[in-house]
Parts: sequence; C-alpha cells; structure tokens
Amino acid sequence: MASIKVRLAKKTGFCFGVKRAVEMAEAALKVKGPIFSLGSIIHNKQVVKALALKGLKVVNNEADVTGGACIISSHGISPVTAKRIVKRGVKLIDTTCPFVLKAQRIAKSLSDKAYNVIIVGDVLHPEVRALVDFVATRSFVVKDGRSAERLKLDKKSRYIVIAQTTQSKSNFAHAVRAISKKRCAGLKVFNTVCRDAEERQAAALLLAGTVDAMFVVGGNNSANTKRLYEVSRRALKESYLIETEAGIKKSWLKGKASVGITSGASTPEWIVNQVVAKILKKGDVS
Ligand code: F3S
Repeated sequence: MASIKVRLAKKTGFCFGVKRAVEMAEAALKVKGPIFSLGSIIHNKQVVKALALKGLKVVNNEADVTGGACIISSHGISPVTAKRIVKRGVKLIDTTCPFVLKAQRIAKSLSDKAYNVIIVGDVLHPEVRALVDFVATRSFVVKDGRSAERLKLDKKSRYIVIAQTTQSKSNFAHAVRAISKKRCAGLKVFNTVCRDAEERQAAALLLAGTVDAMFVVGGNNSANTKRLYEVSRRALKESYLIETEAGIKKSWLKGKASVGITSGASTPEWIVNQVVAKILKKGDVS
C-alpha cells in the first residue's frame, strides 16, 4: 500500500476557552465535595467521560444540582438560572469563555439602552439560549442570511446584531448584509465571532485546497466542529467529520496521496494524535 502524507492544520486541539474550562474543572475536582456540571462542560463526549471518571456529576436538570459546587460550561449560562442555583447555597464555578462573556456584556449593555438584539446563531445552542436571557428588550435569533431576510424590523426601534462566537465569518456577514437592507431607527453591528474559530476555519480552508481528503475531528454535538466541516466541505468534497479514529473508513483513504486533519475547539490533542496514527497505519483502518 502506498504511503499517505498527513498534514495538520495550523490550529488543532483545544482552543483557549476550552483548555481553561477543562483546567478549572480538573482543579475543582481535587477539592472535596460533590462537583456538578449543568450539561456538558464542553461538547466532547470523550473529555466529559474522562472528567466523570474523576468524579464530575453531569446533570441536565437544574433541580439535580443538590449541593457542593456547580460548573458552568464555557458556553455560559442564563443569569436567571445562575441566580436560582446560587440561592440554593451552591457555589458556581464559572468557566464561561471570556469571548462569550464579551458577547453577553454587549447584549446586556445595549439592551439596557433600549436596543433590540439580533443574534446570528443556532437557536438551540446553549450559548445562544443563555445569551437571549441577558436581553431585557426583544431578542431574535437568525441562523443565516436567508432567515435574516425574513426578519421583520420595527421602523421605530433600534437594533444590534451580534454573533454566536463559533459562527463562520461569512455566515455572519451574509446575515448582516440582509439586515442592513431593512429600515429601522438605528443599527449597530458587533462581530463577536471568536478569533480562534475564525483562524481555525481559515486554516482548514487553506489546508483543504492542498490535500486529497480532509478529516475534521470533533464531537457531533459541537457547533464549531460542524462549522469547520461545512467550511472544509465547501473547498473539498472529500471532507469527513469524525469523532475519533474509530470513525475512519478505509474507502475514504483509497487512492489518496495526502490527507489533511483539523479539529474542533473542544477536541483534545490526544484524539487528533490517534487519528493521525491510524491514518499513517492505514492497514488497520476497517
Ligand atoms: Fe471561547 Fe472561542 Fe473557544 S469562544 S470556547 S475561545 S471557540
């Protein structure tokens, strides 16, 4: 079998915000007492499982946080939920990424000045759901340029547009373009797309143009991984989204001289390394 060249994207492994969240969780788990996490601390099953083995109790319902401390994920939490948890005597360990915090502060301060808030993002994503709760005025979530076109603005009201941090820059730009064509009393745009997400997408795009196949490694519940996959697939049809090395199919490697690898921001370096090792030893791929 001919050998395959594996090229890694400039950015792989944890982003700054995820690394910080995992380190904070690991430090908290060294202290006595139950440590809960409301939802997954990051969108990577393998990392969450490893933390659970160290004692992290992952619960999906606020009522199941019964004492000790509760970790808030890097995606942030609704201020209303946070207040309710603290009221019950539970200590909050807030790992909200600073870039997410920035978007929350913008949404809150401008909504306090009577601006309505338009968020470009996924309405079901925990970051967006929390963000909406920082808005005292009206909030709207649009997923792309098309849904932004359908949005009806009140001519007498003012609006801001912000992005879910892991949006692609181009998706945000399309939505902003569609909103800018509408009449309203004032519009401010804040590009809150995180730099890491932007750089990761640019690096993936660049790499996809130079290889025969691309593997995007990350959780299938991870928004930024899905974005990366979309960006890569736009440049190269032979782009594949896998959670771990177990997802690689032999047929994907057939006849390929070079393979590019990128990863979502919540994928640890060790999973990326396992993928590289498996491709290099492609006789093992089933
Ligand atoms: Fe934060 Fe950006 Fe990572 S928002 S969690 S540094 S992808």
